[in-house]
Amino acid sequence: PISTSINPSQSPHHLFSSFLLLNLTMVKAVVLGAAGGIGQPLALLLKTNPLVTELGLYDIVNTPGVAADLSHIATPAKVEGYLPPDDGLAKTLKGADVVIIPAGVPRKPGMTRDDLFKINAGIVHDLAVGIAATAPEAFVLVISNPVNSTVPIVAEVFKRRGKFNPKRLFGVTTLDVVRASTFVAEVNSDLSKSPEIVVPVVGGHSGVTIVPLLSQSSHPLPASSGTETLQALTKRIQFGGDEVVKAKDGTGSATLSMAYAGAEFAIKVIKALAGEKGLVAPSYVHLDADKEGGAVVKKEIGKELDYFSTNVQIGPNGVEKILPLGNLTDYEKQLIAAAVPELTASIEKGAAFQRTPT
Ligand code: NAD
Ligand code: LMR
Repeated sequence: PISTSINPSQSPHHLFSSFLLLNLTMVKAVVLGAAGGIGQPLALLLKTNPLVTELGLYDIVNTPGVAADLSHIATPAKVEGYLPPDDGLAKTLKGADVVIIPAGVPRKPGMTRDDLFKINAGIVHDLAVGIAATAPEAFVLVISNPVNSTVPIVAEVFKRRGKFNPKRLFGVTTLDVVRASTFVAEVNSDLSKSPEIVVPVVGGHSGVTIVPLLSQSSHPLPASSGTETLQALTKRIQFGGDEVVKAKDGTGSATLSMAYAGAEFAIKVIKALAGEKGLVAPSYVHLDADKEGGAVVKKEIGKELDYFSTNVQIGPNGVEKILPLGNLTDYEKQLIAAAVPELTASIEKGAAFQRTPT
């Protein structure tokens, strides 16, 4: 991003200067898959955020219409929408600071996220080739499923071109945390109006690889709740996506809650780019993004995994620190042990993916 030279720490008007710093920073955000169920509301939320000054929208259909529609909203972001012809992807990505990828097919009832690999791996691969060519320094936020594999696919595309920076690649797992907060509030009615329940969710983004650390919830479960409640809540968080897939009955998976969660994460990343300090968010990252912190997490999970979701501290250059999982109960240790085999297989599958010409 291009920002002015105001340095808040040198100014006596610290708060005012921080405000200026954020507001004078130019940030171009790009959504790939912008005409889809997630893409459209996500683009809307980004358009309404004053930190975004340019918004690039790309899809294989409908982006000129989505862009024209959003461009009438009276907020600073200049919106452009492109389709594949005439180098549309490169035009969209030119000058991008943050690229968010919700392109690809969603689940239908009876499918696992891994069932989407067949189609989505190629889509994500080709978009990553475009990003590596036109915006190799951008922060890349991957929403497309299966996240456990699509993130390694992006990493390998960048590695093969000598452009990989693990600090700038993020798998978006925010929806798991959003769901965990909501479901904890539902179990503990005293918390139903609580503004911010934070429950760490670690591991990956599919079924048993989603590991909620309910013992670390900012708001504990009611003292009266026993093992059964804990297990039921854990299962609900792990399979929350299935609830939506079932209710949508063949028409797709979570889109609106995902757009909300995706925007929350993207805006945090944009604030970090703009110089705000101390921002922490959960994300599925390459554990080399912070070798020291990554080594601690590997020790905690007892396995040399390359990728894992945990809280990360984000700064203007991306991941600054990978934070430890912290104190785990025996039950949580078991959940992590159960997550490792599926996570390992999904990472290997993504890393091994090679594009065969269609
Ligand atoms: P959708 O079908 O409504 O939208 C996907 C969009 O991608 C469509 O507009 C389609 O035209 C576009 N697209 C397809 N191929 C493309 C390409 N090569 N380049 C650019 N755009 C392309 O689906 P959705 O509901 O928006 O879900 C999108 C993805 O997000 C799915 O894979 C879904 O599983 C995933 N998802 C992830 C999370 C998460 O927590 N990470 C949550 C919900 C959904
Ligand atoms: C979700 O968690 O809602 C997404 O990963 C979509 C899905 O397939 O469940």
